[in-house]
Amino acid sequence: MEQSNIEDLLRQMTLEEKIGQLTQITGDFYSDKAEDRTGPMSQLGLDDEQITNVGTVLGVVGASECRRIQRQYMERNRLHIPTMFMGDVIHGYETIFPIPLGLASSWDTDAFEEMARVSAEEASVSGLSAVFSPMVDLVRDPRWGRVMESTGEDPFLNGKFASAMVTGYQGEPGELQDHFNKVAACVKHFAAYGAVTGGRDYNTVDMSEQRLRDVYLRGYHAAIEAGARLVMTSFNTVGGIPATGNRHLMQDILRDEFGFDGVLISDFGAVKELISHGVAADESQAASLSIHAGVDIEMMTLCYMHTLEALVTSGAVDERLIDESVLRILRLKNELGLFEHPFRGADEAREKEIVFSTSHRATARRITAESLVLLRNNDATLPLKASQSIALLGPAAQSPDILGAWSWRGRTDRAVTLMQGLRKFASADGESMRSHVKTTEERCDYFVPTESVIAASVELAKHADVVILALGELSTMSGEAASRSNIHLPKGQIALFDAVHKVNPHIVVVLFNGRPLDLSGIEAADAILEAWYPGTEGGAAIADVLFGAVNPSGKVTMSFPESVGQIPVFYDEDNTGRPYEQAPNEKYVSKYLDVSNYAAYPFGFGLSYSHFSYGSPVVSVSGNGFSAEHPAIIRVSITNDSEVDGVEIAQLYVRDLVGEVVRPVKQLKGFQRVALAAGETREIEFELDEKDVRYVHLDDSMRSDPGDFLVWVAGNSRDLSNPIRLHLE
Ligand code: GLC
Repeated sequence: MEQSNIEDLLRQMTLEEKIGQLTQITGDFYSDKAEDRTGPMSQLGLDDEQITNVGTVLGVVGASECRRIQRQYMERNRLHIPTMFMGDVIHGYETIFPIPLGLASSWDTDAFEEMARVSAEEASVSGLSAVFSPMVDLVRDPRWGRVMESTGEDPFLNGKFASAMVTGYQGEPGELQDHFNKVAACVKHFAAYGAVTGGRDYNTVDMSEQRLRDVYLRGYHAAIEAGARLVMTSFNTVGGIPATGNRHLMQDILRDEFGFDGVLISDFGAVKELISHGVAADESQAASLSIHAGVDIEMMTLCYMHTLEALVTSGAVDERLIDESVLRILRLKNELGLFEHPFRGADEAREKEIVFSTSHRATARRITAESLVLLRNNDATLPLKASQSIALLGPAAQSPDILGAWSWRGRTDRAVTLMQGLRKFASADGESMRSHVKTTEERCDYFVPTESVIAASVELAKHADVVILALGELSTMSGEAASRSNIHLPKGQIALFDAVHKVNPHIVVVLFNGRPLDLSGIEAADAILEAWYPGTEGGAAIADVLFGAVNPSGKVTMSFPESVGQIPVFYDEDNTGRPYEQAPNEKYVSKYLDVSNYAAYPFGFGLSYSHFSYGSPVVSVSGNGFSAEHPAIIRVSITNDSEVDGVEIAQLYVRDLVGEVVRPVKQLKGFQRVALAAGETREIEFELDEKDVRYVHLDDSMRSDPGDFLVWVAGNSRDLSNPIRLHLE
């Protein structure tokens, strides 16, 4: 539909119809069973008339159901405006990929684009037009349950992954209109939700605007630059004002500075929550704050519906504000082609062949293997040999609970468990592992393994060459509203570890978890493989890595604390006026009396079955000076000095030695996945541009300062040596 026709349509709408477009409700209000509708309708105070004006629907899927609702909706809507279906497809629709914190460990932007593309194909054929992803909240506190949805602690990396996901979901600019296997991306949660005080969900966020802009907003900005068509507000305050009613954040920064012209949707109930936050006395004030902040859609509360008409009549809200929001919503529906094709991609026949297809699961299995992180591998315990007898023990050994807390349409009954993956694995010569993998009849509890399951585990361990101990968290222990003050493994799991270790010291721990954990208690493990929540093909991908069919290459993108007392512990910290490194034996320096300053497993860390060594970096520019016109080319040779082909994730770190505000001791400014055959040496190069070292100054400008920089190329953020010094003209 032409833009002019959209504007004509707006002119035909009554104020009540316009306000209806600004609301989103769940699908039970459209149920074809009256008994299913009456409860929600009375609870929210909605009548049938109002429901036919509501602009978008949350959380309904299925080609048949979406087509039924759309058909009924357009018949009843006076102007036959189509509705639009949105939902939480965070890391897969029915084919579930690793949680984003796991997928991020692959450092593979193509993998993120593939995940999003597959998700969009499955979601769109099932009726969705928009997904509430990518979540790009930067995180530094693993007590927060939603770190599992994030891609970690680094602004640069989060931005790369966010851009890749937006492209995977939406395709190239303009594709949404004709390509019904694409969906609109909604970047969330704007802004800085990952910085909640104490890691406690929904809690206050408080930081300087300079830190907000320079660290926390970069990921969202990258997603908007990549073309994300929606943004979702966050539950938290920013600068003392809840994001959902925060005009400075949403108008000055998001719309005016970032140039975002898409739809801004509140998080679930966040408009009405302005009352409990204490910045609105009632629904009317909540509605006024939100509409003035530019929130276009109110999700699952009715402050707009209940009060906006009176606010316009009284002159407290200019109807033009409402027109602007309605126009953005109608424009999005038009971009998606919904006026001409209201069912868009929803197709029952194609749904059966596309959703959870063999090829999608094969893609998931390949990508999942890249997300696994080898944290420890003493005495080359891994890879396992086909001849070894294995005792597979622990609560996650046979558990299908491996999809994660935001796997919505994922089906645990169709997930490949670790036991299934190991038993199905056939070594290259076809030798099946089935007979070699023994496990307990009785399932092991995540918290209190029974005496009988411990005894059975010990008995199996006694007679096995190696033990695989599958430990971790239930998926309900992370995700939304799942903060933990203690990030240890449950005590019962440590007790099981100790009992087994007494009879067999050869233990490989496989971790299933949604956050970095404090891994004290399993120090005696020979090997540790971090599997996160690996998704539908989890067990198969883990088997591929444990038996060496895939050489692990994953590296963590969020630091694992040694102790919860260190939190927040992250790699790109400030130097402080009394840096520990400069005087480690001094008392009066920045340190703890009882624990080190360092992460147990730092950002960028992960092992391989190969071993990689780095030469000294050299710089191409004369006199080591670079400028906006002449970027620096940094070259370094990497050698795979092992007998196993592998992939190394080489990382470029930079330190700005003097800034207008303090600068981090190091920042990631580049990375490459480098495939190296056994024994191969290759020279790689990174380009460091002046724009790469720009940062937010006190006047909010994003610019660089002339001066000196240190540059490293390494395999993680801790083991940095022989930096080179560069000078920016
Ligand atoms: C939830 C989450 C948000 C999600 C929305 C819709 O509360 O905060 O991430 O997209 O509601 O389900």
